[in-house]
Amino acid sequence: DWNSESFIDTTIQDLKTKLGNDKVILGLSGGVDSSVAAVLLHKAIGANLHCIFVDNGLLRKNEFEQVLDSYQHMGLNVRGINARELFVGQLTGVKDPEKKRKIIGKAFIEVFDQAAHEVQDVKWLGQGTIYPDVIESLSVNGPSATIKSHHNVGGLPDFMKLKVVEPLNTLFKDEVRRVGKALGLDPALLGRHPFPGPGLAIRIIGEITPERIAILQEADAIYINILKSTGWYDKVWQAGAIFLPVQSVGVMGDERTYEHVICLRAVGSMDGMTADWSHIPYEILGKISNEIINNVKGINRVVYDISSKPPATIEWE
Ligand code: XMP
Repeated sequence: DWNSESFIDTTIQDLKTKLGNDKVILGLSGGVDSSVAAVLLHKAIGANLHCIFVDNGLLRKNEFEQVLDSYQHMGLNVRGINARELFVGQLTGVKDPEKKRKIIGKAFIEVFDQAAHEVQDVKWLGQGTIYPDVIESLSVNGPSATIKSHHNVGGLPDFMKLKVVEPLNTLFKDEVRRVGKALGLDPALLGRHPFPGPGLAIRIIGEITPERIAILQEADAIYINILKSTGWYDKVWQAGAIFLPVQSVGVMGDERTYEHVICLRAVGSMDGMTADWSHIPYEILGKISNEIINNVKGINRVVYDISSKPPATIEWE
């Protein structure tokens, strides 16, 4: 029978033996897996673990500052890198979802590789890979295949030539959460909804602009805060707002408006493979709609997505 305390003890001992006095770099995403992996490595090797947390400008409102702050409170040796302009600049004029993903993946690798070079004599790349990721990466379209496709010209970036240490690669998600809880991680961090790597870039349908990012961050923050205050955040598996590039007519006072639409998405799921749209009560949806329309300039209409997966996906892009 699996026990998180004994997993933690054994893993820390094994990491100490394996890593000795070596340095490790690890990219934090703000998610559960990379955070738990970092805390385990930190307990084993302390300041020899060098964490890197990149702000790609496509995170939720205030998320970079809040998450960086909580990493620092955990005692992690973490460097926050503001790469907003690089990511958002490279996305200018790009509408195709797969192109967005490729650009973001490539920009991340560039930023991470540069940061990795600044850690002298680093020997290892730490990763929060969990067991289902190991299985997935065995398929042709796994993450490593994608990363390699970006680098078929100049060869692999240097950090990808490092030895890899993955303390969670035998665990399932619920086990990672139990380990995180036993390690004393913030329950708010452990209970966070999944959030896609490309972030808000794939929740702004079509073209991305700094104005659209700001509008979506505001609307999404109102939505998520109301889900939290009504107890719905923990009842749904994933939720987020989506910016639709269509404009529709509205009226405000005596003025006719012609502005954009925010779509609310919330689903119940076990693993993201299939999902049902969540039956959030009408009163709560009404309150979210009012607050968004009254407070977010540029939005005059809010809709709710009542599609399940399949045939719809969770994200719109
Ligand atoms: P879909 O939209 O395929 O999403 O139903 C299933 C789950 O995967 C997340 N997702 C991504 N995560 N990079 C990620 O790291 C991506 O490009 C990506 N696309 C979708 C999505 O948020 C949901 O949890």
